[in-house]
Amino acid sequence: MSRLVVISNRVAVPKARGAAGAQGGLAGALNSALKKHKGVWFGWSGEANEERAGTINMQRHDGVTTATIDLTPQEVDDYYNGYANSTLWPLFHYRLDLTRYERETAKGYEAVNERFAESVTPLIEEDDLVWVHDYHLLPLGERLRSRGLKNRIGFFLHTPWPPTRLFVSLPSHERLVKTMLEYDVVGFQTQEWLESFLHYCQKELGAEVDEATGKVMYEGRECTARAYPIGIDWDHFQAQGDTGEARQACQRLLSSTRHRTAMIGVDRLDYSKGLPERIDGIGRFFDQNPERVRDLVYIQIAPPSREDVDSYQKIRGELEQKTGQINGARSEVDLVPIRYVNRGYSHAELFGFFRASKIGMVSPLRDGMNLVAKEYLAAQDPEDPGVLILSRFAGAAAQLSEALLVNPHSPDDLSYMIGKALDMPKAERLRRYEASVATVRDDNVQAWTERFTADLAG
Ligand code: G6P
Repeated sequence: MSRLVVISNRVAVPKARGAAGAQGGLAGALNSALKKHKGVWFGWSGEANEERAGTINMQRHDGVTTATIDLTPQEVDDYYNGYANSTLWPLFHYRLDLTRYERETAKGYEAVNERFAESVTPLIEEDDLVWVHDYHLLPLGERLRSRGLKNRIGFFLHTPWPPTRLFVSLPSHERLVKTMLEYDVVGFQTQEWLESFLHYCQKELGAEVDEATGKVMYEGRECTARAYPIGIDWDHFQAQGDTGEARQACQRLLSSTRHRTAMIGVDRLDYSKGLPERIDGIGRFFDQNPERVRDLVYIQIAPPSREDVDSYQKIRGELEQKTGQINGARSEVDLVPIRYVNRGYSHAELFGFFRASKIGMVSPLRDGMNLVAKEYLAAQDPEDPGVLILSRFAGAAAQLSEALLVNPHSPDDLSYMIGKALDMPKAERLRRYEASVATVRDDNVQAWTERFTADLAG
């Protein structure tokens, strides 16, 4: 079996106490794939450091080697805060209004991709499979090829891919996609993003595209583009649910909400998650059903994210204001309708909170997949499951069509779905849960890793 080299912006560096297994989701799954393939995981350390930039820090743990580099403060600004998170992220989430086009940050992005290529190349052996992740590193494959790498190299995009009409607003759109065609395999979360990508290749580049197989032929090279919907680490998450920590978290929430139904949302504080729009929908629900303020408590867990980027600071302020308004208008001495928490919780605690919440609220305006939707379902009591309200614009909606699919832009639709979830009879809850949970369990992150690496191996 070939070794696997994973390259991503973030790397889950194992803790000294062997806590690699405590990492959930993608980190955990990549770790198990890396263990199997005796692999290397390369990326940014998350540190800005002028002197040490580029120096590789290697750690070996349980058969997996992690290798990270620091970046200079300027590189972090141009590459991470700038081009990745102020240009590509908003553009890929259809937010042209928030997208900034700056030549300097575009250059910084190219330079950091070059730095990644330079640092990782000596770690790659002849037969290694190389797997690059996400929008931070779109041109990395081409940078590696220019250094003479002949390995099979694949790329997976965790975000949406925008329609051609939006994507062409990027000054360097053509160059960026051409670099992507240097990969052997390019993966997307859903058929919809895949189709947008193929459309671009055909219409803008004039590439030859075989839609049935996803083969893109361009200037003598062949690349295969396919959809690989990512899943959760089902077994790991279930094991978390079996811990005292999860049971305690569940009890804590149940005893603090007493006779009210808990509805929960867990999102990074990001404008793509539709949080102010969601709060408006909840406000609409209380306006339309004032007598139900004693029936429902909404818990929003929203750990801050990318705080050096303006648009993230704005969304935080907006959310605080909206939450404050509703709580000010609707609270009683013994009751607060919205609990808003700016911190993260462990997987075990989240399992407990999901289990205690009879409604899961996942209403991004646009999302590559959204694993919270899948985790919410995975945490439900199979005998008495809760109801998932899910944005039709999340990648997960393509698989979870039996969730209550909502238009996250419409306060009326959100309000209507909240009422419907609150009143849903048990038989319907069971039917909807059973229709969705199998794909969450079976199309899990291990299956996703296997499918991608099998295609990559060719
Ligand atoms: C999204 C991206 C990931 C990113 C994560 C957290 O899920 O697709 O690549 O790691 O957000 O964002 P951060 O900027 O903190 O890495």
